[in-house]
Amino acid sequence: MTDLTVHLTQNDVVRGLRSDVLTGLTATRKTLPPKWFYDARGSELFEEITRLEEYYPTRAEREVLADRADEIAALTGARTLVELGSGSSEKTRLLLDALRDKGTLDEIVALDVSDAALESSVAILREAYAPATVHGVVGDFTQHLALLPGGAPRMVVFLGGTIGNLLPAERAKFLSALRDNLRAGEWLLLGTDLVKDRDTLVRAYDDARGVTAEFNRNVLHVLNRELGADFDVAAFEHVAVWDEQEERIEMRLRATRAMRVRIPGVDLEVDFADGEELRTEVSSKFRPARVAAELGDAGFELTKWWTDRLSRFGVTLAQATGA
Ligand code: SAH
Ligand code: AVI
Repeated sequence: MTDLTVHLTQNDVVRGLRSDVLTGLTATRKTLPPKWFYDARGSELFEEITRLEEYYPTRAEREVLADRADEIAALTGARTLVELGSGSSEKTRLLLDALRDKGTLDEIVALDVSDAALESSVAILREAYAPATVHGVVGDFTQHLALLPGGAPRMVVFLGGTIGNLLPAERAKFLSALRDNLRAGEWLLLGTDLVKDRDTLVRAYDDARGVTAEFNRNVLHVLNRELGADFDVAAFEHVAVWDEQEERIEMRLRATRAMRVRIPGVDLEVDFADGEELRTEVSSKFRPARVAAELGDAGFELTKWWTDRLSRFGVTLAQATGA
């Protein structure tokens, strides 16, 4: 067993899930937050998504990191790399290699809600980056930013476009909280997927092999297991829609027949009409000006902005400004 610091116990997880299910499934338009995808199976399915031909964000972001890691290491001189929503930390190794080669890397902090993802990634990082200290933290990046270890200067990395899975108000709150927990001069490296044509986007979220569909439906398996719910998972179809106005992909689960679902863990019965949709994720796509404005509003100053050669994905290096 890998040694992890746990800020989210199984009890906290079930309490949070209950609260989100009660709020989201009793609303007029049903929703669930995307963090509930990521049990062990969900984390595996996400890794499978990153290898799909249609899912360009991982490859595009990796291209930027491969090209710019040395420059990022030189600009930041970071002693601690803190990764939020770290998953497999696979792309992060490009940054860690560069910081190690520059001779500044002392500590690595990987924070994720998924203990399964951390179990394997932390073991790999410990082996690859000794003598650097590796802290694996089971936590929620919307709740546990004040509890992060690591000596200054720190570089917080938030990759994959995961910031786009927060709604605009949640994003603003998250970025301000992050700024408040950094000292002036510390760093943020942020990955953001960019606005592009509808076809490319919809293909990326509705792949031919149906891996994303399985990832989407996985949240219902989580509810069945954790709350004793009786969702007929096969009766929900995967839907990925590009919302031109909001500039975001929405993933939904559409009921293919009318049904009543019992959820004993929250003492709830929920009715779905035939064709009714449950929103399970938003994945916002950005324009450079919006990234700059949101970072500026939260108290970050932009240092550099890069994209891959096809301008599909942006990576921003920003610095916490003085109070
Ligand atoms: N950073 C990786 C993984 C992205 S997948 C990459 O770029 O490929 C999103 C990751 O964020 C998952 O590992 C998921 O478990 C984690 N995650 C989602 N919501 C979270 C939250 N609120 N707090 C912490 N981790 C979260
Ligand atoms: C983790 N996150 C950035 C992914 C995304 O693209 O929004 C999650 C995902 N959803 C469907 N495919 C991948």
